[in-house]
Amino acid sequence: MRKVPFFNYPYVYTNDKDSYLKVIDDVCSRGAFIMQKDLQEFEQRIADYCGVKYAVGVANATDGLQIGMMAGGIGPGDEVIVCSHTMIATASAVHFAGATPVPVEVGPDRNIDVASIEAAITDKTKAICPTQLNGRVANMDAIEAIAKKHNLQVYEDAAQALGAEFKGKKAGSFGVAACFSFYPAKILGCFGDGGIVTTNDEKVYDKMLLLRDHGRSHKTGEVECWGYNTRLDNLQAAILNYNFDTYEDVIKRRRQMAGLYQERLGGLSQVQLPPPPVDGGDYFDVYQNYEISADRRDELKAFLAEKGVGTLMQWGGTAVHQFPKLGFKQSLPKTDEFFKKMIMIPLNMSMTDDDVHYVCDQITSFYKA
Ligand SMILES: Cc1ncc(COP(=O)(O)O)c(C=O)c1O
Repeated sequence: MRKVPFFNYPYVYTNDKDSYLKVIDDVCSRGAFIMQKDLQEFEQRIADYCGVKYAVGVANATDGLQIGMMAGGIGPGDEVIVCSHTMIATASAVHFAGATPVPVEVGPDRNIDVASIEAAITDKTKAICPTQLNGRVANMDAIEAIAKKHNLQVYEDAAQALGAEFKGKKAGSFGVAACFSFYPAKILGCFGDGGIVTTNDEKVYDKMLLLRDHGRSHKTGEVECWGYNTRLDNLQAAILNYNFDTYEDVIKRRRQMAGLYQERLGGLSQVQLPPPPVDGGDYFDVYQNYEISADRRDELKAFLAEKGVGTLMQWGGTAVHQFPKLGFKQSLPKTDEFFKKMIMIPLNMSMTDDDVHYVCDQITSFYKA
């Protein structure tokens, strides 16, 4: 039986082992482990790619969002609106910046439901932080209009969206600061944890540099404030530089696979697919994930597992407001409904077109039976 794993962790390395060994050998032979040229080069490349002035490599995206918010002035007494369909990391970044995360509904495109943002605004609201989920940017025109009307900041959790665009602007270029994740299963992944945070604001950039490295000024070596140790390892940066060389091809292939899913499954009434890849429209999606809503979701999941197809529910199937121990009181019925049906089917770089067809054959036969 064919096997299509949800994600193939050894694949990236084993598929190109000699090249990675050269990258690792080069960095280790130079003894270039912390804050070296590979990191600087990577930060510059990501800033240029996203069309922003600055990027700061950090240990992971969660830390990046936290220090981005702290540098932007988020703190105790503030509320930050997030989508409930996001990793708990988005909310914990707000929490550890000292503020209160306020989850709101997910919309039809699986991003923050713009209509529910305004209802959640109070006199404590300081910012909106959309998650650019599954490699799609939220409707930033609408979010920016609300932010302007209520005098709020905007941050982005762009952990899943490197390269995604809205109206020609890349994820990571909206708002005060934005984080990206290089967790191994991300489209641009490293061999462990990694992240970066982008900004156009020089003051925010300078503060983030301090916060990621014990509060130390890289110019004077003086400790200017309390800080963290959340640097992106230089070895990971070198691996990321290598992976980034082929990033455009990777995105192209992911969009092709998403197109194939659309072609094969678009006519099935029992599943709702994500928006299809469109050339030249308002949205350029990079398909970090292929998340669908499916009737009889749990039965489908079990059926696909029997047929060798791996699936996954984001966040273990629990929305942010559904974690009872974190004290959320929001009632979000649209999100609750969505979470009963959502499931991700495999879309990864180890897959062939035949694998995509196999997944589609199995889903089709499940609903025809
Ligand atoms: C939407 C979202 N936000 C935040 C994170 C956290 O990223 P990291 O693991 O790099 O901290 C992830 C990672 O999976 C994510 O998908």
